[in-house]
Amino acid sequence: MPPLTPMPVARAQVVAVGTALPERRVSNAELACRLDTTDEWIVSRTGIRERRVCEPGQGLITLAEPAARRCLERAGVAASDIDGIIVATITPDMVMPATANLLQHRIGATRAWAFDVANACNGFVAALANATMWIESGRAKRILVLGGDVMSSLIDWKDRNTCVLFGDGCGAVLVEAGPADGPGVVGIEMHSDGGPAAELCVPCSGSAIPATPEALARGQHFLKQNGKMIFTHAVRRMAEIAASVMRSNGLTAADIDLVVPHQANLRIIQPTAERIGVPMSKVVVNLDRLGNTTAATIPLALADAEADGRLVAGSRVLLVAFGGGLTWGAVYLTWGRS
Ligand code: UT7
Repeated sequence: MPPLTPMPVARAQVVAVGTALPERRVSNAELACRLDTTDEWIVSRTGIRERRVCEPGQGLITLAEPAARRCLERAGVAASDIDGIIVATITPDMVMPATANLLQHRIGATRAWAFDVANACNGFVAALANATMWIESGRAKRILVLGGDVMSSLIDWKDRNTCVLFGDGCGAVLVEAGPADGPGVVGIEMHSDGGPAAELCVPCSGSAIPATPEALARGQHFLKQNGKMIFTHAVRRMAEIAASVMRSNGLTAADIDLVVPHQANLRIIQPTAERIGVPMSKVVVNLDRLGNTTAATIPLALADAEADGRLVAGSRVLLVAFGGGLTWGAVYLTWGRS
């Protein structure tokens, strides 16, 4: 009898990470000068102390290109040897062409196909899952996967409910075909629930509400969020899906070296870790410095964990994300090249 899950011909190894951040830091104190908010409120409700913010008109490609170049350099791979590029983002440089296409040209990835994936804060997990399928099927050998967002372009800087939460940034990983029994992506799970879609959305950002002067005057091009409702769902779904991926791969908390969660709120990350029984010492947190960078949070956190020595070849890593859609996902992988 054939096995229920056929052995893939190759395993998707995640071999290197590279990042890019805008130079400008915006502290809570700076926001408190402009808005009715305080450092104390922001830190106690979210854990965020500062965020990086692009200059007006600075598109995602200005971060995606250096992140991609750094990732390839660390991997020791030439751009011309990549088969594909997937950019996860909800803030592409423009709706068409995809930022992945701009990147393909900028870095000279002459053989690579390229497309963007829009799955909000779960975008990096969705893009990594997609790349894994290409690699496991044997149809590609090297794919550059990026998560990046310029959230400052969607934010109403006068709305204290949202503007304190987000930041800009981009991270890239190289996913490479390796031996089927080697390190790499082992478990993937993703879910969606479009019912509460309106609770976290950008109303005027596509065909439903075109960018007319009236829509802009109403501020419908800004991100809207029902924070409390999203918070409740995030805590529940992040813990559920993390536990589910652990269960289906026969893992206990002791088998996980590192949890890399989406960075929206420390008060979401802590209960997630608690519910799966993983101590906070094994959880990567960088939202204090970067805020919520949407699709970029996970690759930026991977890079931080590598820099501080917690992410090394063979590390057993659980990625988990939740975001607008609603959409949530988790990936279990072992890090590095065989
Ligand atoms: O990454 C995508 C998914 N997004 C998320 O996961 C975000 C999920 N939500 C959250 O993280 C939290 O709900 C927030 C951080 C957005 C808000 O925290 P909260 O504890 O749920 O606060 P709240 O929305 O219940 O607001 C409490 C009060 C309100 O005042 P009233 O109505 O009680 O008088 C807000 O107006 O805090 C007020 N408030 C602020 N006060 C000072 C909201 N934002 C601010 C602010 N400074 N920046």
